[in-house]
Amino acid sequence: MAYTKNILITGGAGFIGSHLVRLMLNKYPDYRIINLDKLTYAGNLKNLTDVESAPNYAFVKADICDRNAINDVFEKYEITDVIHLAAESHVDRSIEGPMEFVMTNVVGTVNLLQAAKDFWKLNIVSSGGNVFHHVSTDEVYGSLGAEGLFEEVTPYDPRSPYSSSKASSDHFVRAFHHTYGLPIKISNCSNNYGSHQFPEKLIPLMINNIVHKKPLPIYGKGDNIRDWLWVVDHASAIDRIFHDGRLGEAYNVGGLNEWTNIDLVKYLCKIMDQKLGRAEGESAELITYVTDRAGHDMRYAIDATKLETELNWRPSLQFEEGLDKTVDWYLENAEWIDEVTSGAYRDYYENMYQDR
Ligand code: NAD
Ligand code: DAU
Repeated sequence: MAYTKNILITGGAGFIGSHLVRLMLNKYPDYRIINLDKLTYAGNLKNLTDVESAPNYAFVKADICDRNAINDVFEKYEITDVIHLAAESHVDRSIEGPMEFVMTNVVGTVNLLQAAKDFWKLNIVSSGGNVFHHVSTDEVYGSLGAEGLFEEVTPYDPRSPYSSSKASSDHFVRAFHHTYGLPIKISNCSNNYGSHQFPEKLIPLMINNIVHKKPLPIYGKGDNIRDWLWVVDHASAIDRIFHDGRLGEAYNVGGLNEWTNIDLVKYLCKIMDQKLGRAEGESAELITYVTDRAGHDMRYAIDATKLETELNWRPSLQFEEGLDKTVDWYLENAEWIDEVTSGAYRDYYENMYQDR
């Protein structure tokens, strides 16, 4: 079959990437989806077992820093478009060791940009025009006080090694547009939650610890604020921006759904007490205040007006409904959690909280 697009999705075995691969395979049978992933601790092909036998799906295990491997993929699959998600994504890990973040998030992104630029210059392979869509984060804008929202024009002010590496990658993506005319789009999204998220991030970590009656580590006073969006809605926003967003533009993605960490964890405890048949208040007794994250950003909140007005995108789910589905998924998939938290992750996690 001749496919209308051959889309390279990087990081497709990770949390958001696997939701995006699933959406694209189900929605666009005339596209071939090539998932390229290094399968780090955060990548797991079991995230995709329901779609891996689709005829329009291919998986390549490779590192985005490996230029020869990337060139081979562009040539073999005649890549028409890239949606780039592969990254080191966890802020606490970036504080422990920034270099891996520089390698994957900065060097790996530039490597991909070079490969796309070189291949598309020689091969005009897509009748609709090529697109390099870079998936980024709201953390590039820094930290908000009590008021205000991040807009696309908010100056960059990254403050952690993770957000600095993502900001750097955004700058390189824009530089390739301005300097070489590469057809790029960028999306900057707020905190995602949902199924298949590695349980080092706040929500799945807390769910897992509640199940096992382990301490629930709240950094600092728990009054930091995040703006939560269901991962399936993030995937639908990427789909919309990839297809209809303007070239050279950035779009913020978010749910207008701000929670302090402590309120969110208390709410999780409440719904999990009900689901697990525990007495009301039992899980909340596990809450333990620990040393704050170094340089902890106070508040993130997204103004997604541009995406809503230009591209008519809105989140599909209320947070309470999304969280309910999410908790059910983790309760029904205890095996997945056991698998991804075994071995090296367990050592990392235990060391991490030793001095907190
Ligand atoms: P994740 O950590 O769950 O997945 C990252 C994936 O990238 C994994 O499958 C991993 O194996 C792969 N990967 C890592 N290094 C690689 C390399 N060198 N070469 C090839 N593959 C590699 O991350 P996520 O939470 O799904 O985030 C995906 C993207 O979305 C990231 O770019 C992140 O910055 C961005 N983002 C995440 C959130 C969020 O809340 N999780 C919000 C906004 C933006
Ligand atoms: O805003 C988008 C970003 O959201 C993404 O770019 C990142 O990839 C993603 O990891 C996420 O970053 P955060 O640092 O906001 O997410 P995390 O789940 O690590 O933490 C959420 C909040 O909860 C943050 O204020 C720190 C706090 N926290 C986190 C953990 C893991 C705790 O209090 N205790 C914890 O154990």
